[in-house]
This record gives sequence, C-alpha cells and structure tokens, in this order.
Amino acid sequence: MKRLPLIIGAIFTLTIVIVIITTIKLEHKDVPEGEFKTMVDATYVGSSECKKCHERKFLEWTTTLHSKMMQDAKANPMAIIGDFDSLSEIRTFKKEDVDFTLGNQWKQQYLKKTEDDYVVLPAQYNISSGQWTLYQAEDWQDKSWFKECAGCHATGVDPEKKTFKEPGIGCEACHGPGSNHVKAIPGYEIATIVDPQRLTTNAAAQICGSCHSRGMDKSGQYQYPANYMTSRGVANLRIFFNHANQEENKDMFWPSGDSKYNNMQYLDWQNSEHAKAGVSCTSCHTIHVSQSTFQTKLQGDKLCRSCHQTMENRGAHKLHTFGSCIACHMPRTGKSAEAGDIRSHTFSFIYPELSIEMGGLEKQPNSCSDCHHHKDNLIEGLVEFLDAAKKADMPKPYAVHRRKALK
Ligand code: HEC
Ligand code: HEC
Ligand code: HEC
Ligand code: HEC
Ligand code: HEC
Ligand code: HEC
Ligand code: HEC
Ligand code: HEC
Repeated sequence: MKRLPLIIGAIFTLTIVIVIITTIKLEHKDVPEGEFKTMVDATYVGSSECKKCHERKFLEWTTTLHSKMMQDAKANPMAIIGDFDSLSEIRTFKKEDVDFTLGNQWKQQYLKKTEDDYVVLPAQYNISSGQWTLYQAEDWQDKSWFKECAGCHATGVDPEKKTFKEPGIGCEACHGPGSNHVKAIPGYEIATIVDPQRLTTNAAAQICGSCHSRGMDKSGQYQYPANYMTSRGVANLRIFFNHANQEENKDMFWPSGDSKYNNMQYLDWQNSEHAKAGVSCTSCHTIHVSQSTFQTKLQGDKLCRSCHQTMENRGAHKLHTFGSCIACHMPRTGKSAEAGDIRSHTFSFIYPELSIEMGGLEKQPNSCSDCHHHKDNLIEGLVEFLDAAKKADMPKPYAVHRRKALK
C-alpha cells in the first residue's frame, strides 16, 4: 500500500507528458503550409495558376478581348482572322510567317520572331472591311516590338531580358505578380496581391491608364511604362511615364482636345468631369467578363441614365425624339483601323461651330455631323438649330462648358 502514491504520481506525470506531447504534435499539424510574404517582391506565375482557385473568374475572363489580345498562332492557328487565301498585293508575307496575332476587334496585326525580339509584319487586316492595308514604314524590320509595344499586349514583360510570362492581358497585368499570393497561408491577413477595390479611384484608374494611354517611359526607351507596378507600393504612373499631351503632341489630338487614335481613353477621361467626380473606368465597364460590346455595364443610354436620372428634356436635349447620349457626348473622334471606330472619352459635347472655326470636319469633327453628314446638312445649319434650341430653354450657362480650341 506504500506504493499507491508512487503509482498515482507516475500515472499523473505520464498523463501530463502525453498531454504535452500530443499538444505539441497537434499544434505542429495545425500550422498550415504557406508563406508569410507581402506582394512587394513577387514574380509572375501566369493566369493558369490563378485558375486553380479562381476558376469562375478565369472562365469569365476568357470571354474578354483582354484574354485574346495576343495569341500564339503556332499553338492555335484559328486565332488568325486575316484572309491569307486570297491574293493580295499589300500583304507580302505568308500565314507560316506568323508567330503571334495582335487584336480581334478592329484590326489584326502579326508578329514574327527574330533573333532576340519580334517584328510587326508590314500589313494589317481590317476586320470590318475585310481589307489588307499597309502597316509601318519601310524600316519595319529594324523596329523592336519590345520597345514599342510589348508592355501593353503581354503580361510580365521584362524589356531588358526581352521576355514575357504570358501573351495577352492576363490576371497579373492588372493585379501585379502573384507568386506570393499563390503560396500564401490561407486566411493569413496580409495583402499578398493588388486588389484595385482597395485603391483610391485615381490609383485604380492608373492601372487601366498604364495601357489605355500613349506616351513614353521616363527612360525614353519604351512606349509603355516599363517599371510601373502597383504591387511595389502605391505607384504614381506619372513617375514612370510621360503621357502624350495636347501641347507637345498636337498630331494626336483634335483642337477640341479629344484624342485622334485608339488606346487613349485614359487621356480623354482625365480631362473629363467624370474623372473629377470619381466616375472611372470601372464605374462604366465590367472588368472580368464581357457581356456587352465594349464591356459596358449597361447598354447605350441605359448606362448614362442609370446615374443621370434627373436629366431634363430641354435645350439640346429636346432636339430629338430619341436619347443617344453616347452619339453626342462620345462622338467618334478616334481611329484604330478606320476613321471613326473609336469614341471620345472626354464625355463633353463638341460644338459644330468649332468645326467651322477650324476649317472643316477634317480638321475638327463635332457631335452633330456624325449623324447629320449628308451634303445638304451644312454645319452652319446645325449651329443655327442648336442656338435656337438653346435660346428656347437653356439648361445651364452654355458658355461655361463650351471648349475653346487651342491656339
Ligand atoms: C491557392 C489558391 C489561390 C490561388 C492559386 C490564387 N488565389 Fe487569389 N485568392 C485566394 C483566396 C482563398 C482568396 C480570398 C481570401 C483572401 O483574401 O486571402 C483570394 C483573393 C484574391 C484577391 C482579393 C485579394 C484581396 O486582398 O482582397 C485577388 C485580387 C486575387 N485573389 C487574385 C488572384 C490572382 C491574380 C491569382 C493568380 C496569380 C490568384 N489570385 C491565385 C486563393 C488563391
Ligand atoms: C501604351 C500601351 C500600348 C502600346 C505601347 C501599344 N498598344 Fe496597341 N493597344 C493598346 C490598347 C489599350 C488597345 C485597345 C484599346 C483601343 O483599341 O483603343 C490597343 C489596340 C491594338 C490593336 C487592335 C486590337 C483590335 O482588336 O482591333 C493592335 C493590332 C495593336 N494595338 C497593335 C499595336 C502595335 C503593333 C504596337 C507597337 C507598335 C502597339 N499596339 C503599341 C495599348 C498599346
Ligand atoms: C483589366 C484588369 C484586370 C484583369 C485582366 C483581371 N482583373 Fe481581377 N480585378 C480588377 C479590378 C479593377 C478589380 C476590382 C473590382 C471592382 O472594382 O469592381 C478586380 C478584382 C478581383 C478580385 C477580388 C474581387 C472580386 O471580384 O472577387 C479577384 C479575386 C480577381 N480580381 C481575380 C482575377 C483573376 C483570377 C483574373 C484572371 C483570370 C483577373 N482578376 C483579371 C482588374 C482586373
Ligand atoms: C496590360 C495592358 C492593359 C491593361 C492594364 C488594361 N487594358 Fe484594357 N485593353 C488592352 C488591350 C490591348 C485591349 C484590346 C484587346 C483587343 O482588342 O483584342 C483592351 C481592351 C479593353 C476594352 C474593350 C473591350 C471590348 O470588348 O471591346 C475595355 C472596355 C478595356 N480594355 C477596359 C480596361 C479597364 C477598365 C482596365 C483597368 C481595370 C484595363 N482595360 C486595363 C490593354 C490593357
Ligand atoms: C461614363 C462611362 C464610361 C467611363 C467612365 C469610361 N468608359 Fe469606356 N466606354 C464607355 C462607353 C459608353 C463606350 C462605347 C460603347 C459603344 O460604343 O456602344 C466605351 C468604350 C470603350 C472602349 C472601346 C473603344 C472606344 O474607345 O470606343 C474602351 C477600350 C474603353 N471604353 C476603355 C475605357 C477606359 C480605359 C476607361 C477609364 C480610363 C473608360 N473606358 C471609362 C463608357 C465609359
Ligand atoms: C456612375 C455614374 C455615372 C454614369 C454611369 C455616367 N455619369 Fe455622367 N456624370 C456623373 C457625375 C457624378 C458627374 C459630375 C457632375 C454631375 O453631378 O452632374 C457627371 C458628369 C457628366 C457630364 C458633365 C456635366 C457638366 O456639368 O458639365 C456629362 C456631359 C455626362 N456626365 C454625361 C454622361 C454620359 C454621356 C454618360 C454615359 C456614357 C454618363 N455621363 C454616365 C455620373 C455618371
Ligand atoms: C443632340 C445632342 C445631345 C444628346 C443626344 C444628349 N446631349 Fe447632353 N448635352 C448636349 C449639349 C449641347 C449640352 C450642353 C452642355 C455642354 O456644352 O456640354 C449637354 C449637356 C449635358 C449635361 C450637362 C448639363 C446638364 O443639362 O445637366 C449632361 C449631364 C448631359 N448632357 C447628359 C446627357 C445624357 C445622359 C444624355 C442621354 C440621355 C444626353 N446628354 C444626350 C447635347 C446632347
Ligand atoms: C445619333 C444621331 C444624331 C445626332 C448625334 C444628332 N442628330 Fe439630329 N437628327 C437625327 C435623326 C435620326 C433625326 C430625325 C428624327 C428625329 O427628329 O428624332 C434628327 C433630326 C434633327 C433635327 C430636326 C429637323 C430635321 O432636319 O429633321 C434637327 C434640327 C437636328 N436633328 C439637329 C441636330 C443637332 C444640332 C445635333 C447636334 C447637337 C444633332 N442633330 C445630332 C440624328 C442625330
């Protein structure tokens, strides 16, 4: 009986030891696998990695033109839209020369691999007219795709090494490199990837503006902002990129300030009342999915009216029996394949008298002549009608909004 306390003591100690060991083991098992790292030093992994967990977003993204901008023509010959069967004097190359396609909407251009770069082949296919047109000057063979184009049409571009991770606008073109996010500990509360919803409107719009814009990298070498990356902290696009502007690049803008070419939406938008009011790209466009032409959230006037609900039917707005907000406030001033296929994003009305002042429609388009272009419709007549409409009932002091041409 003397041994009883000893036995109890032994059992007690043993229990404690077992409890401690299992606790340690359990704790060890509970630590999930993954890494504790922020997004700052991450590298590119490619959209197919994102698919593993964000399958729905991935599938939706494949409906957007972003996903199809640049396609491997050798792996997927169906990506070639251009007519290579008919004879053409303009197109001097063969289907077999094409390594990658660029574009699906207005025009398609073709890339051929060179020793350490790519060149854009010297003819483009205009999709709506079905015509081949010449592209680039005679020195096309000396041009560098990595200098002039790459950063806006591929993802994870390293312009110095002349490499890219993925053709097209992949997830990481907007979200930044994702290697740390992919390896992160589930539920660990640290930002491992850029979520534009958590940025200011302006900073989020800059992501779009890094491509939907024209200009020159600060190094003077690249026509895109080569080192801009939101994941490295709140990065101001201006620090990396000199945007084209009306003073220095007169050839790219109409006297009214609206842009003349494609991929200039951000530059237009920056000058708009919408930008000032915080109405940005993502207010009007869906991002991951394409359910309508140009990925707008609602079609036509419905989009504008969803916010401008109290619009009164007076002044210029009374001229017609229909709405057509976009026709007057986003006139077709730009050109991708053919003149007028791109709309202005300043959202301001271009007065017909500005066309007269500038010496005709070729020098300055306006919001009315897009539809009233018949030869009997003199611009002077449109000006008169507009004045009459305004005098009958002016919604606002019009002079305030009337933009003067740059002298
Ligand atoms: C291993 C699974 C996994 C992979 C792979 C993955 N994600 Fe995620 N992602 C998650 C989970 C889970 C969440 C939500 C929980 C959270 O916020 O941590 C998330 C959240 C996000 C968010 C919102 C983050 C935030 O801070 O609000 C973004 C953006 C995102 N992922 C983008 C991507 C992109 C781009 C890729 C590919 C580079 C990717 N993810 C790959 C699992 C994954
Ligand atoms: C600063 C970014 C940027 C640079 C540099 C750039 N592009 Fe683009 N490009 C875009 C954007 C954004 C679009 C789509 C928006 C638009 O058409 O307005 C586009 C559209 C296109 C399209 C038409 C797509 C379609 O579906 O019709 C082609 C083709 C194209 N670019 C070729 C080129 C070539 C070739 C170069 C280099 C000589 C180049 N781009 C340089 C941003 C850029
Ligand atoms: C053209 C730029 C762009 C591309 C490409 C893009 N995203 Fe996004 N993503 C955004 C923006 C902007 C937001 C913020 C959404 C908002 O403001 O409505 C966002 C939000 C998200 C979120 C968090 C919020 C949510 O909706 O759940 C996830 C997750 C995400 N994206 C994953 C992806 C994945 C995966 C891909 C590729 C298949 C991808 N994104 C491609 C711009 C992009
Ligand atoms: C890495 C460059 C890049 C970034 C970043 C980018 N885009 Fe684009 N975007 C393009 C190119 C290139 C095209 C033309 C694709 C084509 O025509 O094949 C395009 C096309 C579009 C289109 C036309 C789609 C259609 O169906 O006609 C919209 C709208 C658009 N982008 C909005 C955005 C918005 C909003 C953002 C920011 C959240 C953004 N883009 C970020 C390069 C970019
Ligand atoms: C107030 C709404 C609104 C805002 C803000 C807006 N867009 Fe648009 N966007 C539109 C509409 C409407 C269209 C043309 C739809 C049509 O023609 O049916 C369009 C067309 C486009 C196109 C197709 C080519 C073209 O220009 O016609 C691109 C690309 C585009 N937007 C990109 C952007 C980007 C990038 C931003 C931000 C810098 C932006 N948009 C801001 C409403 C908007
Ligand atoms: C997400 C909401 C939203 C959408 C969508 C929207 N707007 Fe706006 N818009 C605003 C706000 C906010 C302002 C700032 C001034 C105000 O409150 O009227 C504004 C200003 C304007 C102005 C300048 C007004 C002035 O005082 O000079 C015009 C013109 C305009 N919008 C036209 C349009 C057109 C055309 C569309 C459709 C393509 C559109 N808006 C879509 C919210 C929106
Ligand atoms: C026939 C051409 C035309 C059409 C169509 C048109 N607008 Fe206007 N809008 C004008 C003119 C002209 C002004 C005068 C102000 C200016 O100089 O910008 C104006 C002014 C505005 C303003 C600022 C002043 C105000 O009245 O609040 C807004 C906002 C606006 N329009 C939105 C719209 C919306 C939304 C639609 C579609 C329902 C639309 N507009 C259709 C020509 C038009
Ligand atoms: C979207 C195309 C479109 C735009 C933009 C447009 N119009 Fe019209 N306009 C029409 C159509 C179609 C009619 C005939 C049907 C109607 O009256 O609704 C018309 C009729 C008119 C009429 C009635 C007299 C007539 O000749 O039949 C006047 C005046 C007029 N427009 C002036 C203008 C002015 C001024 C502008 C610029 C502020 C303008 N329109 C912009 C399409 C347009």
